[in-house]
Amino acid sequence: MIESIKRMVGEKKTGRSKEELLSSIRKFPLPEHVAIIMDGNGRWAKKRGLPRTAGHAAGMKRVRETIRAADELGIKVLTCYSFSTENWKRPKDEVAYLMKLPIEFLKTDLQELIDRNVKVQMLGEKSRTPSQTQLALTEFEEKTKHNTGLILNFAINYGSREEIVQAIREIIDEVQKGNIDKDQIDQDLINQHLLTRGLPDPDLIIRTSGEIRISNFLLWQLAYSELWFTDALWPDFTPELFYQAIEDFQRRSRRYGAV
Ligand code: IPE
Ligand code: IPE
Ligand code: MG
Repeated sequence: MIESIKRMVGEKKTGRSKEELLSSIRKFPLPEHVAIIMDGNGRWAKKRGLPRTAGHAAGMKRVRETIRAADELGIKVLTCYSFSTENWKRPKDEVAYLMKLPIEFLKTDLQELIDRNVKVQMLGEKSRTPSQTQLALTEFEEKTKHNTGLILNFAINYGSREEIVQAIREIIDEVQKGNIDKDQIDQDLINQHLLTRGLPDPDLIIRTSGEIRISNFLLWQLAYSELWFTDALWPDFTPELFYQAIEDFQRRSRRYGAV
């Protein structure tokens, strides 16, 4: 990443310990909703001469650590972009491997998520995923639906443009049925028809792997999100980097168009 852009939007070398970062973060308001574009698994594996799937396996560990870090800090909503509507274009084997990860994650992590009072939700159309994957995703949602702690969204088969298209269809349907008048369509109504209905917009969006783009993620919701980028590949993303992103967020001045 170009150095000057890096200084503006992302990672700085802090050289501080986890404890120092945490005590600094705890002094200021936290972002309510943090959303992460977990990118760079394939490159991480390639650098090591491993198949791309090894990068996805390594990335899973970071998902677990990041959930723990978010939960322990008291973040309200964490959204993890796990598989996009465009990721179906990847080789069959890789897609099949990615679709198995939720099944694996269910076995290893469901109990911990229940113990942590985490509520797991999915953003994205489950029905296109293999039946075993759908079962795992549904079990996550079912077994945690009454939990009241961290809301953990997995964006799987998620695409923001498709989400907006669906919202438009639903709203037109409501107008045609005469349930609402065209003039009643406003930002709130659109929010209610998005997959993120009921959730606050992301305050902070993190993207790993040095790519400075959004890749069809939460396009409507990110209107006033703070963006934070790091060169770290997702399997190298540590809780320290997560804390650093939050600390940088806390230093930003959010104006929402005002002065
Ligand atoms: C992110 O890592 C995981 C998914 C998109 C599923 P990538 O698989 O995109 O890794 P790179 O970007 O090719 O390195
Ligand atoms: C974005 O990463 C999607 C996820 C992290 C799930 P991609 O690797 O698919 O994005 P592009 O292709 O680099 O834009
Ligand atoms: Mg990628």
